[in-house]
Amino acid sequence: MKSSRIPGFYKLAIEERIDKLAETFDLGREEIDALRGLGSLGLEQADKMIENAVGIYSLPIGVGLNFLINGKDYLVPMAIEEPSVVASCSFMAKLVRGAGGFTAGSTKRVMIGQVQVVGCEDFRAAKNALYSHRDELIELANVLVPNMVKRGGGALDLDVRVLNDNPGAKYSRMLVLHLYIDTQDAMGANTINTMVEGIAPRVEALTGGKVYLRILSNYTDTCLAWAKCVVPPHVLTTDGWTGEQVIEGMLHAHAFAASDTYRAVTHNKGVMNGVDAVVIATGNDWRAIEAGAHAYAARDGHYGPMTDWSKDENGNLVGFIELPMPVGIVGGSIGMHPMAQIALKFVRAKSARELAEVILAVGLAQNMAALRALATTGIQKGHMALHARTVAVTAGARGELVERIAQAMVEAQEIKIEKARELLATLDPA
Ligand code: MEV
Repeated sequence: MKSSRIPGFYKLAIEERIDKLAETFDLGREEIDALRGLGSLGLEQADKMIENAVGIYSLPIGVGLNFLINGKDYLVPMAIEEPSVVASCSFMAKLVRGAGGFTAGSTKRVMIGQVQVVGCEDFRAAKNALYSHRDELIELANVLVPNMVKRGGGALDLDVRVLNDNPGAKYSRMLVLHLYIDTQDAMGANTINTMVEGIAPRVEALTGGKVYLRILSNYTDTCLAWAKCVVPPHVLTTDGWTGEQVIEGMLHAHAFAASDTYRAVTHNKGVMNGVDAVVIATGNDWRAIEAGAHAYAARDGHYGPMTDWSKDENGNLVGFIELPMPVGIVGGSIGMHPMAQIALKFVRAKSARELAEVILAVGLAQNMAALRALATTGIQKGHMALHARTVAVTAGARGELVERIAQAMVEAQEIKIEKARELLATLDPA
């Protein structure tokens, strides 16, 4: 694939879009069928994935276009039911592309497993005992996951904290061991849980306490990714607003989210529209990503916006986002879900870190789209155009008639099924 710019992609019929991707990505018959909804996740797989399975829940999958990140083109798979998300972030990616694209990066991927110990006679001594057996505990954990170690991953380090150490503490004193684990390109939940469960008896023996919880933490502030864009004002000009005015409005929008939790949550919901769509499409655990992202947004004790928008000395709009992003490209249900496999083929991320960086760029683009619209015409205009397409299809319009009928309804400011039927009867009397 030479470019993620595919002009007029949205105007193609869905079969034509599938053909285009099939050709670009050299998709096989089964993959094409999966995109058509014929051979995707089947009942048999569903039955192996969860208990009491009775069917399959589907979502549309679209591709976000125009993403240029660190000089590489990405076609981004997005699974989402909400209209306008794919279109608006593709549009923002196009604007950012014109300004050189996104830059993105990530920290080394380190996951955290927690072991909770209560009832130690001497918490200080227990803590010291764990530290003085650091190498032994790491070795013990690694013996449990030989395949992960063979792939270059495994436990790297540990640390220990004593919680509720002050006399007036509401809850009882406890010791918490963090095992830091490199899970390579997997999210690694099972690996982490196996390791912390496996070392628990030795932790009990060393501390003289009782171990209760042994589980990964979804707050992976040791596995961060970030994305940034710098956009000159002229790129942002829209519907009677100069670029400078748009930037001013977007900075007020950012200040609002930074000052008010009611707004910050909605602001972040918009970010997660983009993030979750890619996380879901690629077969990752979006509840884990959601939980970690919101906690990170409150890391300084105050829940704030996940993005930061500012103006540089040249008057350019500067957007930045950083979140924990412990996604995987292997493991979990990724291998079981045919659509996740296809989605990963589209995005062409060679590592989990690369996928995380793409996801952050999408989250930033999504937020940029929302703020740009909210600070100018409002979001209903764009939503209505897309809603009109859905109404046209529901009324029975197909092919190029969908666009014509939708447009006519928007112009008439009457987006109703009766109007769509009336237009359809006029334009396509057959
Ligand atoms: C809608 O799904 C998302 C927005 O509400 C986000 C925002 O307000 O920033 C448009």
